Amino acid sequence: MKKIAVLTSGGDSPGMNAAVRAVTRKAIYNNIEVYGVYQGYQGLLNDNIEKLELGSVGDTIQRGGTFLYSARCPEFKDADVRKKGIENLRKRDIEGLVVIGGDGSYRGAQRISEECKEIQTIGVPGTIDNDINGSDFTIGFDTALNTIIDSVDKIRDTASSHARTFIIEVMGRDCGDLALWAGLSVGAETIILPEVNVDIKDVAEKIDNGIKRGKKHSIVMVAEGCMSGEACAKELSKYINIDTRVSVLGHIQRGGSPSGADRVLASRLGGHAVELLLSGKTAVGVGIMNNELTDTPFDEIFNAKNQKFEHSIYNLAKELSI
Ligand code: F6P
Repeated sequence: MKKIAVLTSGGDSPGMNAAVRAVTRKAIYNNIEVYGVYQGYQGLLNDNIEKLELGSVGDTIQRGGTFLYSARCPEFKDADVRKKGIENLRKRDIEGLVVIGGDGSYRGAQRISEECKEIQTIGVPGTIDNDINGSDFTIGFDTALNTIIDSVDKIRDTASSHARTFIIEVMGRDCGDLALWAGLSVGAETIILPEVNVDIKDVAEKIDNGIKRGKKHSIVMVAEGCMSGEACAKELSKYINIDTRVSVLGHIQRGGSPSGADRVLASRLGGHAVELLLSGKTAVGVGIMNNELTDTPFDEIFNAKNQKFEHSIYNLAKELSI
């Protein structure tokens, strides 16, 4: 293998730069030329591709966002459109493509490997949502989790001063992991997420009991994939009359310097992606499971989606917030 390309795609996540750096430096270490595709699959179609050197990724490991830029590119689902992107790789004799992103980005990589046998593709899980099967953690999840914790710690100060109930809406698309881990970390009274059915009447009762016991404030953590914070507040108001505020944390969760855990994860997964290319693997996503580096075929990753929800963590959070 002499030449590979790397791109970041879909919603950005803190640690993507560290992953691009790892892919680039590991490849150059192994005498492979590296090309950066700017703006994800959109850049692949527009031939927005440049050679990366060791220095191109200097001073990036600590930066949030992605210096390669990212984009959502629905056109890439079209086989005729894809041909153009594949051609742009072929004309440079690129034999391997590392795609850093989420589920949708992996699907593009899978199609490329099916339609062009000379190009191996490897997926690296980069999303704050932690919703990629085949990896216990995705790059950016830990940083986003810490951003939520930091925000809720601040919100708790004012919640306490005013004896209010705060409903915090967090990202995660269809996955409740951010809400779950953040909920446990901030001691939320209730965590509402897509993977578990919750009766809002029970939530209201719990808040009411807390107030009767002398609790100063309550935190309800809601995953966007289950319901909006506003909808939750409206539902709660049917059962109790409390002073409630809703806080939608939004895109702040996607920004910021990556945490140590994300820098290490991104470096390990990026390096492993290059090792897999060198060993001839294709159409697999890298991951970390029980602290071991793994690779899982894209098909398995898609079919097993959402099966890694940790019910034990949910139950623990519930037990600790009685
Ligand atoms: O997949 C990452 C994510 O931040 C989700 O949590 C969220 O639902 C979505 O992207 C938001 O996408 P956009 O930035 O395109 O609005």
